[in-house]
Amino acid sequence: MVRQPIICGNWKMYKTIEEATGFIETLAPLITQSQVHVYLAVPFTAIYPAAIAAQNTAIIIGAQNMNDAAEGAFTGEIAGKMIKEAGAKFVILGHSERRIYFGETDQIILKKVQRALLDEIQPIVCIGEKIEERDAGINDEVLSAQLEGSVGSLSADQAARLIIAYEPVWAIGTGKIATPEVAQKQHLFCREWMAAKWGQITADQIKILYGGSVKPDNISALMAQPDIDGALVGGASLSAVAFNEIIHYAIAKMIEKSTFEQHESSHG
Ligand code: PGA
Repeated sequence: MVRQPIICGNWKMYKTIEEATGFIETLAPLITQSQVHVYLAVPFTAIYPAAIAAQNTAIIIGAQNMNDAAEGAFTGEIAGKMIKEAGAKFVILGHSERRIYFGETDQIILKKVQRALLDEIQPIVCIGEKIEERDAGINDEVLSAQLEGSVGSLSADQAARLIIAYEPVWAIGTGKIATPEVAQKQHLFCREWMAAKWGQITADQIKILYGGSVKPDNISALMAQPDIDGALVGGASLSAVAFNEIIHYAIAKMIEKSTFEQHESSHG
C-alpha cells in the first residue's frame, strides 16, 4: 500500500517572521505540482504570518510543541487552540530535544496528544532510541515503551489521526544517518506494534516518518523503503534549495513506488 508521503521541515528555534515568509515565498512556486504533502513546523511567532504566506500554496504550517491544558495559569505556555487559531494544522510532540532538555515524559506527551486530537490538530509523535540504547541492543524495547506510553491508550479511531516520526537520537543533527535498512527495520517494528494494538487496517493508514540527518543525497534511498512514508527534516529544511530538492526526490520515489505497485497488482 502506498501512503501519500509527507516531507515535514522542523525549523526548531530558527527563523524570524521575515525569514519565514521569505522562505515560503521562495519555496511555494517550486512545488505547485506536489504529490507529497509539504509540512513546515515553524516557531510560534511565525505561525500566523507563515500560514498567511502559505495560503493557496501546497505548504501546510504547524507548530513544534503545545501545552496539554485547554488554557490556564501556565506562564510562558501556549495552548492548542491558540496555535490552531494562528493557522497550525499539525503539531510535533515529544521531539527528543523536548524529552531531553525539557524533561517531557511519555505521560506528558500522551496528554498533549490527547489535547491536540480534541483541538483537531494533527499530532506528529516522535520516538527514537539513544545511542547507548542501540549499543545495548534494546532499541525495540525502547520504541515499544515510548509507543505504549505516548499513544498506547488511544482508540483505533484516534490513532488513525496520528503521524509517527521515528528519529534515532544519535542521527539527529549529527550527519550520522541510520542506513535505509536499519530505518526500515525500525519502521516495520513500529507498524507491527500498531497492528497488534489497533489492527492492520489502522496500522496501514498511519504514516511513519524517518528523521535524523535527512539530506537531498539520502532521501531517495530512505523513501524506497516500504514502511518509510516521508521524513522529518531539521537542518536541511532551513535552506529552501535543499528542502525543495528533498521534496522533489521524494516525489520521484513516490511515483516510482506507486507505478511498481500498480504493475504488481495488474500482474497478480
Ligand atoms: P536533523 O533534525 O535533520 O537536523 O538531523 C531532525 C529533527 O530533529 O527532527
